[in-house]
Amino acid sequence: MANQGIRRSWRIAVLPGDGIGSEVVGATLPLLRHASQMAGLDLNWDMLPWPSTAWHEDNGQMMPDDALAQLSQYDAMLMGALGDPGPTSNPNRYLLSDGVSLSPLLTLRKGFDLWACERPAQLLEGAHQYLADDRARDVDMLVIRENSEGEYVNQGGRLHRGTPRETATQLEVFTRAATERLLRHAFESAQRRAAERKEKGQTRHFKRLDGSHATSQVCLITKRNALPEWGELYTEVFEQLSQRYPDVAIHHELIDAACMKFVQAPWQFDVVAASNLQGDILTDLAAILSGGMGVAPSCNLKPDDRSVPPLFEPTHGSAPDIAGQHLADPTAMILTAAMMLDWMGVEDPAASDAAEHLRRATEASLKARNEGSTLTGTDNISQHIEHFLAQRQEALTP
Ligand code: IPM
Ligand code: MN
Repeated sequence: MANQGIRRSWRIAVLPGDGIGSEVVGATLPLLRHASQMAGLDLNWDMLPWPSTAWHEDNGQMMPDDALAQLSQYDAMLMGALGDPGPTSNPNRYLLSDGVSLSPLLTLRKGFDLWACERPAQLLEGAHQYLADDRARDVDMLVIRENSEGEYVNQGGRLHRGTPRETATQLEVFTRAATERLLRHAFESAQRRAAERKEKGQTRHFKRLDGSHATSQVCLITKRNALPEWGELYTEVFEQLSQRYPDVAIHHELIDAACMKFVQAPWQFDVVAASNLQGDILTDLAAILSGGMGVAPSCNLKPDDRSVPPLFEPTHGSAPDIAGQHLADPTAMILTAAMMLDWMGVEDPAASDAAEHLRRATEASLKARNEGSTLTGTDNISQHIEHFLAQRQEALTP
């Protein structure tokens, strides 16, 4: 995408949240600061104590009533994690139901209409390869999850509560408008990825049904054999839109078969578009393909409106089992911060440079960790990456 050079100064809201959230955020901010300074990026942040379980303990809610209004003053949000704060060894810790502690996540996504959740899966050198087949090295996909409706509309109710006749309903809502914007974004992302590959002198081939090949692909996920109403709406919109993107190959998988193929032949996927819940499930699987939850970044965007703050948060949760021990791998959080810099880079070349510094240093560290040192500990890993940032800075200094 072309740099438009509009914004030159950025303010972000840092939301460490719960559990390992504050640990991985704490490990990321110094690196973000350093990479920004190297690139001459004007980046400032405020650290907010909410949303969090701790804030709930003091105030009776996860975040203030005017949270959205306050957050709308920022260019972007960088979140650690929400949920059980841990440690699980303490049975008396202040603990909320998932519905309460995780609700700000959904409130932010819906409140700012961040309708696309992007979760790339690429097996970086040095990251753990779970699949034995060595072609798994070549996994490079982007799962785009519908983030505004579908199974997550939270419409329904409980009838005859607590009686043998109790009935729960949970409505799913799929609109043509949300389907169109999601799938258009998927096609545009496929074109962008193909262009980026071309720039690097790389190419990929995706087979069409007629035997011809394309350099990019969008795979649509549904369960249209059992859930035909929305499955057919998605399919129709997909086929209509695909006419406008003749250079992109199209493919369809049912969600169950997609799970199988993510394990059997994940290197065959490029861009994958899925509903809210099916995308949620698929992206945990995709995270494992990229080396595990500790290295899987994620973001929630409104691609058609850059004036609302996107939410950048790793795919992982608050990990109460290891919270408080500084054992969490901060890599996912750092790569998530790099995604934030990529997003800023559309308007500010310095942010693209900062993203490049952060990502290259993280990759170099991963690779070095794989080759020798079995480095563990949130802060040790952060310092290891800092070492590669400093090395890069030195190499770049004339
Ligand atoms: C995620 C999480 C959330 C989701 C939960 C915590 C509500 O699993 O970001 O993938 O389902 O979207
Ligand atoms: Mn999830």
